Parts: sequence; C-alpha cells; structure tokens
Amino acid sequence: MKPQQVREWVRAARRIVVLSGAGMSAESGVPTFRDAQTGLWAKFRPEELATEEAFRARPQMVWDWYAARRESLAKVEPNAGHHAIAAFQQRHPGRLTVVTQNVDGLHQRAGSPGVLALHGSILEDRWLEAPRPCCAGAEPLPGRPPRCGVCGNLRRPAVVWFGEMLPARELAAAEDAAAACDLMLVVGTSGVVYPAAGLARATQGRVVIVNPQASELDDAADAVLRGTAAALLPELLED
Ligand code: APR
Repeated sequence: MKPQQVREWVRAARRIVVLSGAGMSAESGVPTFRDAQTGLWAKFRPEELATEEAFRARPQMVWDWYAARRESLAKVEPNAGHHAIAAFQQRHPGRLTVVTQNVDGLHQRAGSPGVLALHGSILEDRWLEAPRPCCAGAEPLPGRPPRCGVCGNLRRPAVVWFGEMLPARELAAAEDAAAACDLMLVVGTSGVVYPAAGLARATQGRVVIVNPQASELDDAADAVLRGTAAALLPELLED
C-alpha cells in the first residue's frame, strides 16, 4: 500500500482516530519500552517495574526511575508527527481524536486538544492510598517519594501500571471514538498491551498501521505503512 492511497482515505474520512504508542515519540528521543536497552528497562521487563507491587516493594527505586524519565522529558520536543496531527486538528476541528498510550505529554505539548491519555501522565503524581483528610490538608513531605507527614501515605506517578484499571472516562471516550471513526491510524505501538490494542480490533473503520517494524496488530490492518511517525504523518495528514 502506498502512502498516497492512505492520504485519499484520510481526505475521505469523516472521523479519524490516531491510536499512538511509544514509537510516536521515538523521533523526539524518547526510548520505546520494548526496545530500550538502557537503564532499568534493560534489567527489568516493563511488567516487573511498572506495577503497584514493584512500587510498594521498592518505592525509592521506582520513584527515582520515573523522576529520571520526567527530567529527560523536559529536554525533548514534540516531533513532526505530533505537529502534523495537531495541525490537522486545528484545520479540521472535531474530526480527529488522539488516543494515546503515551504518558509523555508530547501530543498535548504539540497542541492536540482533548487527548485521551489511556495510561495517565508521567508529569503528574497522586496519592498511593485514597487520600485521607491529613493528606489533603498539607503539602507532602519532600522525599523519594514524597509522603504525608501524618499518615505516611506515599505520592506515586499518575501513570497506569500493569494490572490497574484504565481511567474510566478516557477509556469510554476512546471506545466511543473507535466505534464512530471510519479511519484509525495506529502509530508506533507494538499492539501487545490491552485494552488499548483492542480498540484497533473493535473499530469498523479502516485501520492503517504506521510502524517501521512488524506489530501484533498488522493482521487487523487494511494497510501497513513501514515507516516512521515523523516521516509519514506529515504526508498522510496534509490537505
Ligand atoms: N515511528 C513509528 N513507530 C515506531 C518508531 C517510529 N519512529 N520507532 C519505533 N516504533 C515502533 C516499534 O516498532 C514498536 O512496534 O513503536 C513500537 C513501540 O512499542 P512498545 O515499546 O511496546 O510501546 P507501546 O506499544 O506504546 O507499549 C504499550 O506498554 O509498557 C507499557 O504502558 C506501557 O503504554 C505502554 C504500553
């Protein structure tokens, strides 16, 4: 399949969903999960590090790891792919919905409105246990992680860990968008993590994969474009 054909599909589509994963941000310099060869990802599988159990067992290690990722994100910028999506949304209000598994905030920084961030945000944190009046009443004590000075409740990254529920409002809105779209661009995801990957299987619309490598969703696709997000999206989304 040629990008020009997909561009025709984009032009004809009334409602488009972009379902993005870590590869969307690769050209911004953010390492993907399953390719990362450095840091803790090299030593632990994501499923071992990104869990509530891992945080409870080693809160400082997991907190520090997220803090380091947060710091490195402050040094990167949205790439041409993020910008092409946001520019399309500005030219065509209400026509394209971004559903992302990324926690890096780069779609939002590029100017995409209404991003449905299924896996939360690494730029924010929240209480580990449901906050008690003491937690809400005062600033958390600084620390790694910060904690409530009264009850000891810990702050944790506001991301969705393995085994946790996705935010209900975002997931419901993503399911509605997937059901209503006539075209879904699946960009930079290995397609192994559900329920996000299930959105590409549930849609009645055409499914186009943008990924330089094979993914688990290729069999659900009407077209597979072997290229990168920053190279292909500006071409696909140009008017
Ligand atoms: N453009 C497009 N795709 C790319 C690019 C690029 N420049 N570079 C890499 N890719 C592709 C890879 O080929 C791979 O298929 O991006 C995909 C990244 O896959 P993963 O690292 O598995 O990331 P993702 O699919 O987002 O992971 C899903 O798993 O660890 C959890 O919660 C975490 O949201 C994450 C989820």
